Amino acid sequence: MEGMRIVITGANRGIGLALARHYAAAGAEVHGTARAPERATELAAVPGVCVHALDVRSEASCAALAAALGDVGVDVLVNNAGVGAWEALDAFDGAQALAIYDTNALGPVRVTRALLPLLERARGKVFHIGSDMGSITHTNQGGAYAYRMSKAALGMAGRALANDLRDRGVASIVVHPGWVRTDMGGRGATLGPEECAEQLAKVFAARGIESTGRFYSLLDVELPW
Ligand SMILES: NC(=O)c1ccc[n+]([C@@H]2O[C@H](COP(=O)([O-])OP(=O)(O)OC[C@H]3O[C@@H](n4cnc5c(N)ncnc54)[C@H](OP(=O)(O)O)[C@@H]3O)[C@@H](O)[C@H]2O)c1
Repeated sequence: MEGMRIVITGANRGIGLALARHYAAAGAEVHGTARAPERATELAAVPGVCVHALDVRSEASCAALAAALGDVGVDVLVNNAGVGAWEALDAFDGAQALAIYDTNALGPVRVTRALLPLLERARGKVFHIGSDMGSITHTNQGGAYAYRMSKAALGMAGRALANDLRDRGVASIVVHPGWVRTDMGGRGATLGPEECAEQLAKVFAARGIESTGRFYSLLDVELPW
């Protein structure tokens, strides 16, 4: 991965931090983002990682990240930052749902648009960390309305971006990372973040412009929207 320039959002903990560690160890040039970089001590401790401030809910913050990255192309953008909520129908809260939508569905569009000139320069790939919980086909339970709807909308964003960016040489692909032991996934989850990152990197390497607009599992199997 020498020479690869990768940007990972929400890299201060969880899956994003594991991805940053994985790519840095493999020799990539890693740019990891955090909402509060001064508190991102674990990310800053990864040798060779450059830490940037980013709140995906802010256009200005996305523009500042693009400016900080300079003129050099970006090979891979991982839209990983996200928030979860597992509310029952009785506890549904519209204001909370809008905030989750803003982060999980609109955030990846903002970041992709801001970094587009750099992605085009490298004929890069954008991977959006989606969720099987956002698959309409696979959903056979209720609850978690805000999260499910935000990730279903992220699938649509990933697909529409693919159509806009295909002719510009940039891929847009959604990947479900499995159930991972992070603050979001909880302790009972089946996968460790390191194992998840290793497997995600295989999917990222295997998939490119020929797979744009599609949705994959951690095992590189295509998933239904
Ligand atoms: N864990 C799972 O089982 C699982 C399953 C399916 C999909 N996913 C998806 O995988 C991604 C990573 O999840 P995770 O389990 O690693 O979660 P996590 O441990 O809760 O980490 C979430 C990351 O997103 C960042 N973030 C939240 N809101 C943000 C914002 N407005 N701007 C920038 N960064 C923001 C957090 O930053 P702060 O520290 O500042 O809050 C943190 O770095 C998410 O998109 C999630 O939906 C996870």
